[in-house]
Amino acid sequence: MAGDGRSPTGRRVVMFPFPFGSHITPMLQLAGLLRARGLAVTVLHADLNAPDPARHPDFTFVSIRESLPDEVVSSPDMVEQMIGLNAACEAPFQAALAELVRGGGPREVACAVVDGQWYKMLGAATRAGVPALALRTDGAATFLTMLATPRLHADGYDRLDELVPGLEPLRLRDLIRVDGSDEETVLRFITRVTDAMRESSSGVVVNTFGAIEGAELAKIKRELSLPAFAVGPLHLVSPAPVGHGRPYAPDRGCLAWLDAQPPRSVLYVSLGSTACVDRAAFVEMAWGLAGSGVPFLWVLRPGSVHGADDVLPFPEELLDTVSCRGKVVGWSPQREVLAHPAVGGFWTHCGWNSIMEGICEGVPMLVQPCFADQTVNARYVTHRWGTGLEIGKVFERTAMARTIRMLMAREQGPQAPKERAHLLKMEASRCVGAGGAASLALDDLVEYMLGL
Ligand code: UDX
Repeated sequence: MAGDGRSPTGRRVVMFPFPFGSHITPMLQLAGLLRARGLAVTVLHADLNAPDPARHPDFTFVSIRESLPDEVVSSPDMVEQMIGLNAACEAPFQAALAELVRGGGPREVACAVVDGQWYKMLGAATRAGVPALALRTDGAATFLTMLATPRLHADGYDRLDELVPGLEPLRLRDLIRVDGSDEETVLRFITRVTDAMRESSSGVVVNTFGAIEGAELAKIKRELSLPAFAVGPLHLVSPAPVGHGRPYAPDRGCLAWLDAQPPRSVLYVSLGSTACVDRAAFVEMAWGLAGSGVPFLWVLRPGSVHGADDVLPFPEELLDTVSCRGKVVGWSPQREVLAHPAVGGFWTHCGWNSIMEGICEGVPMLVQPCFADQTVNARYVTHRWGTGLEIGKVFERTAMARTIRMLMAREQGPQAPKERAHLLKMEASRCVGAGGAASLALDDLVEYMLGL
């Protein structure tokens, strides 16, 4: 246990992050905001990927001391793993929460906020006598597709390339799929998440903001008849330190390299913390970047090319290009990279954190979604916000080079991704400014929590 435990309001909120890096970060960011509004924060956590209390001295950390079967820890199927984690953590979470309630003063625990993927914890919190809200660490559009998926499935909806009624601009092919998990498993998981939300949640908190997903948030409220709070972009408003659970230390040398590049000239390439590509795709990406003539900063995590434990060597013919026009790192300080004046484009896998960080810095994107919510986010970039281009339906070097040049071109019209990205950056700044929508949403959320 760590943290000071005091609160000016005399009330406490209990947070329970899902133990995957990109889920823990936004939960702790929200925790920082709630703490700043006068609530004490206890972070209940799994021992798997446990957060480091030393980085968050304002919170109290309590492990639920789960015991995970080996097949859950080592499952190659991410969705089966999430289902297994729910099953294994439900009872220890409920016991730890009940213990906190017993140990606190009367009504000290105001509510729990659990990650939206912790579907079993919503009911467990209720049984422990604590109202619970779910934090969606992905976008509102993604959650809306999850709410619609069981119904589309029951209706036998199978038109892959048509716009799905009510979910435009999404097509069926843009909805969630997960490599290595079969469709039935994904459907089972989504149904459990959405059923739990309908049955046991007191509300939903989403890391988004109105200018990008206002309509989606309104639809979620209608569909669930529950309050929904758009408290994002969390990474801009939260005082919490960044970088929990990152697999590697960032290579800060790339910032000095960026300092030496002309403004808006560099394409930043990163596929996040888990997505991998096969060897053929890696080689086409390398040739596409080389053929574009554009300087690039490429994050190549060890193991991010299937079948190779380390970083794959570049094709020999490209070594000169890479050394004179490119910079390759294993992990970057991404937020600082995206904010750097030399960066003019972002080739991204469209993980939600990357999308929010790119939008808030006004960087146009090349989208290469790999799995999960990334296909939804990619379609929003290209067809809702107009802030990016698809890297190519066919993964081919010449087409890639052309698309890269198109994204990075200096002269562009008002509907060009660069201009649209700049407009959304302005909207994000308005949202997080004094008295902006993010702060009002947080006020509403705290008031709602204290009234539960
Ligand atoms: C995963 C899923 O892939 C994604 O679909 C889902 O939306 C969230 O969970 P991840 O692959 O980690 O996410 O991508 P993303 O959500 O974009 O998060 C990556 C984070 O790592 C970002 O905050 C980014 O700033 C950071 N990062 C990435 C670095 O700090 N350095 C890097 O080199 C790459």
